[in-house]
Amino acid sequence: MEKIALVTGGSKGIGRACVNSLIKDNYIVIDASRSEVKLDSEKYHFFKTDVASEKDINSLFTFIEEKYGRLDVLINNAGFGRFAKLEDSKLSDFDEMFAVNVRGLFICTQKALKFMLKQNSGFIANISSIAGKNSIEQASIYCATKHAVMGLTKSLFLEVRKSGVRVIAICPGSVDTNFFDQPGTQLHSERNSLLAPQDVADAVMFALNSPERCLVNEIELRPLNPVKKS
Ligand SMILES: NC(=O)c1ccc[n+]([C@@H]2O[C@H](COP(=O)([O-])OP(=O)(O)OC[C@H]3O[C@@H](n4cnc5c(N)ncnc54)[C@H](OP(=O)(O)O)[C@@H]3O)[C@@H](O)[C@H]2O)c1
Repeated sequence: MEKIALVTGGSKGIGRACVNSLIKDNYIVIDASRSEVKLDSEKYHFFKTDVASEKDINSLFTFIEEKYGRLDVLINNAGFGRFAKLEDSKLSDFDEMFAVNVRGLFICTQKALKFMLKQNSGFIANISSIAGKNSIEQASIYCATKHAVMGLTKSLFLEVRKSGVRVIAICPGSVDTNFFDQPGTQLHSERNSLLAPQDVADAVMFALNSPERCLVNEIELRPLNPVKKS
């Protein structure tokens, strides 16, 4: 039987590394991003999706239902941060970050569960962040979104564990991706000591390929030798 995986935000960075690793592991992978980046593999399917749009997510899951009728893996990866002092943050920053990082993840998860609970198996990895566990100055909205992801992930883990569905939060520190192109984020990147996107994908694959009886439900990854800030 073909194994089907969905990666949100698989066009770049951590999501792209997850797409490549899943294909290597013989999954058919659907990449739900806004921008198509070609990949020469029969196992790769791009489905143009803005996870801030419920309509787009509905179309994505209709496609999955009609073409495959199952879903084995969901990697909720699409996300971004716009950093600023809270007093300078705009309400639109708040709405847009929550729409992608939390609301989009919620809708995708709910729809994926329809397949997984019926199958009595499934794996959902939510790409959270160290910002979901710690506080970061000048990143309060982003931190709030990732704390929300942690709360959702931990509650869901308890809800579906008995149904054979594995849920995990992945919490990376700084990773060398386009994440740091967003306003305000540059201050927070530790350019000489970043994780590679593949490090995060490897953590996802480790949890996915753990024995079925074993539920790895959180992984925190940090760069070694962080640059000291003066
Ligand atoms: N880089 C870090 O230091 C770091 C650390 C901890 C956690 N994270 C988390 O890791 C995840 C991936 O980020 P990254 O570092 O790989 O950044 P990235 O290189 O900027 O990639 C972000 C991905 O998310 C997609 N995306 C963004 N908004 C989207 C939307 N509305 N709908 C669908 N896809 C969307 C982008 O695709 P399109 O632009 O094509 O839509 C892209 O593929 C995020 O959740 C981020 O919060 C990153």
